[in-house]
Formats: sequence, C-alpha cells, structure tokens
Amino acid sequence: MNDRATTIESARARIAAALDVESLQALEREFLGKDGAVARALAALPTLPPAERKDAGQAANRLKQEVLAALEARRSVLAESSLEAERRAEGFDATLPAPPVERGGLHPIVQVTRELEDLFVSMGYQVLDGPEVELDLYNFEKLNIPPDHPARDTQDTFYVAASDSGPGTGSAKLVLRTHTSPVQVRAMERLTPPFRAIVPGKVFRQEEVDASHEHTFHQMEGLVIDKGISVGHLVHAMRTLLRGIFGRELDVRLRPGYFPFVEPGFELDARCPFCESGCSVCKGTTWVELLPCGLVHPNVLRQGGLDPEIWGGFAFGLGLSRLVMLRFGIDDVRHLLSGDLRFLEQF
Ligand code: DAH
Repeated sequence: MNDRATTIESARARIAAALDVESLQALEREFLGKDGAVARALAALPTLPPAERKDAGQAANRLKQEVLAALEARRSVLAESSLEAERRAEGFDATLPAPPVERGGLHPIVQVTRELEDLFVSMGYQVLDGPEVELDLYNFEKLNIPPDHPARDTQDTFYVAASDSGPGTGSAKLVLRTHTSPVQVRAMERLTPPFRAIVPGKVFRQEEVDASHEHTFHQMEGLVIDKGISVGHLVHAMRTLLRGIFGRELDVRLRPGYFPFVEPGFELDARCPFCESGCSVCKGTTWVELLPCGLVHPNVLRQGGLDPEIWGGFAFGLGLSRLVMLRFGIDDVRHLLSGDLRFLEQF
C-alpha cells in the first residue's frame, strides 16, 4: 500500500503545479473520474484479501478527500491570479493611492454675497430677489427716472425686443435691469413697513467692455423703511457694513451725489482700507468711492404705495463686483464672469 501514500503526495504536487483550469479538469478526471484512480482502487477492493480491505477502502477515501481539497485550493489560486492579471492589464493597482477627488469651490462673488447676507440678516434685514428682465416701469419710471434721463439711453440699457404677444412700448417695455434699485419699489409694494431688506443680484449695461467695465456685473441694493429715518441712520448702517466687509472701523465721508430716486443723495467714500498715504487702489487720495446712497425720494415712496408724510427710508447701492475686486485684489473685472478655471481655482 506504499504506492497509495505516494499517489496522494504526487497527486497533491501535480495539482499544485497545474497552470490553468483545463489542466485541473484533466487531473480531476484522472483521479476522481469514472475510471480514475479512486474508482479503480474502490473497484479492486473485493479482489483483496479480507484483512486488507478495510485499510485499502480508507486509503481510497483519503485519496479522494485530499484530491478534492487540493483541486479546490488550486482553483481559487488560479481564479485569483487570473483576476490579478486582468486588473494589471487594465492598469489597475489596488496599492496605489486613489486619484484625488476634484472639489468645487464657491465663486468669490458668492462668497462675499453670503458673508454680507449673514451680516445684514443679523441686523434684521431680509434678503430679497427681483426679476433680471424687468419692466421699464420699475427699472426707471417708478424710481423717479424721467423718460428723457440719460440713464435710459440705449447706450446704457439693453432693451428686450418686443414680440407680438409681449409688451412693447412705454413703461410696459422690458429691459435687462440696469441696477438692483427696481426691487426697492417691488419691496415697498409687497412688504408691510417698517422693514429692512437687501437685494444682491446681477445687473446689465450696454457698455464698452474693458478692465473696469463689464456688460454684466453684481450689485447689492439696501433699503430700510421706517418712521423718522435720517441721514444719521444711513451713515451708521454704512459704517457697520464697511466694518463687516473690511473687519475694522473705516472713516467715511459723504459727498453730494445725484440719483433721481433719493433726496438727498450721496456718494459715500471710505478711508482706503489698503494704505495710509495713498496707493493704486485709492489713486493716491486715501479715499475710495464705495457706496452711492441717500434718503428715499418721496416720489418713490408714493410709487411703492407708502405715504411720505408717515414713512421714510434710506437706500444704498453697493457695487458687489467692485467690492469683490478690492477684497481679493482682482485687477480686471472681466475675470469674474469668464468661467476661467485658472482664475476660479484661486479662491
Ligand atoms: N442704482 C444706482 C446705480 O446703479 C446706485 C444707487 C445709488 C443705489 C443710490 C441706491 C442709491 O440705492 O440710494 O447706479
């Protein structure tokens, strides 16, 4: 029965050396098939002397179990390595670090808008929205901008072509809003005073595009309606706004400014946040012109359905695009909406 022990060893060795599934199948037939080694050993049992039969039967069974186990082990090794080979062919290597996940970021305009929204919401303002395609009525007329005002010039305003079904003439004409101010009147019509609101948004002007002029840019309108509003309230709100933006107190000054929808109207300048004695941002003057503002004109209050004898208010129009440029040191407004990743990835 020595040759049986040898058979187990050699069967194991041959199975372990098989290089593919086909060779394994051949070995399986050779050992376990109908005429295989195990079958022949079992068939030979009756020919043996009775004293040897028990050992011989056990040996045949052991051979069968060992062969089965060896086949199983070798099969899984071959399966694994063919998977490996496939992966390698695909250039897959489980030990390499995963490729970095590209993360998007917030556009600098969105970043500053959200910051300012947080600041104003903390002071009791609500954030409003208005249509970008606006009625002439709201963009101009209700803001006390008469039909012959230069701001209405086709040079500045994108008029939306009238269609057969759509509005066409006069105050029913449609424009791309040239500022966020029309939302002032929309807010007065909709909200019950007193209220405070800001309106961040996109505005459009038909301008010669250069490093400081874009046809599309961002503003943030502010409007406070209450009783007994004075220029003092306006200045306080503007100082708070500047502190929020630049992180510290900045001296401010008011110069008279003309905007048809406020009276009095101002240009509010702030001490240059970037220098003490003049730099390129303030063009050597130490003042930067930041915020046109004023007290809401009585005609505008009336257009918004409010009695100017009872209600007053102040308004401001922050140039968001300009502020973002100041904040991040961006020297060309055209970068902002270019969609250029080389620009955007810096924020
Ligand atoms: N809407 C004006 C513009 O785009 C800016 C402006 C000036 C807004 C004075 C205001 C304001 O609210 O009070 O040029």
